[in-house]
Amino acid sequence: MANQNLGTARLVKNDEFYTQFADIEKEMNAYLEYDENVFRDKTVLLPCDDPEWSNFTKYFAQNFKKLGLKKLISTSYARDRKPSNVDPQLSLFEQQSPQFDEDKSQQNGRIFILDSDTNGDGKTDVQDLTWDYLEGDGDFRSDELKALRDQSDFVITNPPFSLFRKFLAWVVEGEKKLVIIGNMNAITYKETFELIQSDRLWLGATANGSDMVFAVPPGSDIKPSDREKAARLGYEGNYTRLGNSCWFTSIDHGRRHQPLSLMTMSDNKKFSKHKEVNGVGYQKYANFDAIEVPFTDAIPSDFAGVMGVPISFLSKYSPEQFEIVGNMDDHEQNKAIGVQPLSADFIDGYRAVGGTGAQRAGGYWTGLTDPHRFPYKRIFIRHRSPTK
Ligand SMILES: C[S@@+](CC[C@H](N)C(=O)[O-])C[C@H]1O[C@@H](n2cnc3c(N)ncnc32)[C@H](O)[C@@H]1O
Repeated sequence: MANQNLGTARLVKNDEFYTQFADIEKEMNAYLEYDENVFRDKTVLLPCDDPEWSNFTKYFAQNFKKLGLKKLISTSYARDRKPSNVDPQLSLFEQQSPQFDEDKSQQNGRIFILDSDTNGDGKTDVQDLTWDYLEGDGDFRSDELKALRDQSDFVITNPPFSLFRKFLAWVVEGEKKLVIIGNMNAITYKETFELIQSDRLWLGATANGSDMVFAVPPGSDIKPSDREKAARLGYEGNYTRLGNSCWFTSIDHGRRHQPLSLMTMSDNKKFSKHKEVNGVGYQKYANFDAIEVPFTDAIPSDFAGVMGVPISFLSKYSPEQFEIVGNMDDHEQNKAIGVQPLSADFIDGYRAVGGTGAQRAGGYWTGLTDPHRFPYKRIFIRHRSPTK
């Protein structure tokens, strides 16, 4: 029975994607360019990272000295919690270690620590990693992992995608600095957005919403189109591409302090490369005193009111240039910032053009009338100082 449950659990989730070294390095370099001492004397926890797979562990171990780290802790999730195609073979490294235990190697997570020159060769590097089995399975929500989180300064990883919300909440609860990979759509989750709006979380410096390619274990179920896209980007075999990936971070970097260079409203109307704006201008929402700006590069520099922009705006967002007013997906907030309930006329118009969204009749959605529709996921922003 126990095995049956295990089997079911092993089949359902597919959280096994491994981040590439170069992607990690690029992002960390952006933090280091901004502050070369950002990691100095700090403890970094990588809580979903088996060093035999994880390039996060490799990156931080290899750069331990350069970064001036005090301690690196990397923990991995138990093998029997992972899908059955993952890493079925025990590595020689594990099997030949004195602490090897056949049962624990399946049921327990593992912990790797790097904090000193254990082999006495005069430097602290990957060779000095020490490891052991965790008491439990390495679930980040366990008391054991919480205690490790609490002794760390940074939590950095690509967490299981299916647990993104819970993972973010876990790091925030521990009040730790973080760098994690997620999907751009997570921006509009209430919990994520509150952090972004209050400037406690922002997007990273690289890969914003672009195609990131991840290694996957042999036998993984990859959509053929994703496999092809990965191949087109030069990755053949056990790789998949996940569109819309981005870094969420609370470490500062230079990119977010560079203001966007923008045209005025009338120049956009004359010169915008977007046919939706060129010669057309901007629509006002039917039930909210704000304009719809369908492209980030079409934000008018001189408009003083509220503007609805796509979520990809956040990869260009500078908190000195803009204030974030709201998130279209949050109806409570919409109500608070002045969105009115949609009128019966609007709903009639929406139905007349074939609109079918049942939920549209309730809630505080913001609609457009030319034609009647609901733009997809908008963030409401305002210039701090509009410029001509
Ligand atoms: C998206 S993968 C990324 C792995 C690694 N961080 C990397 O970037 O290469 C997420 C990892 O989290 C592990 N995982 C899944 N659920 C977990 C949990 N509850 N606690 C800790 N790790 C978990 C998965 O087994 C998987 O290896």
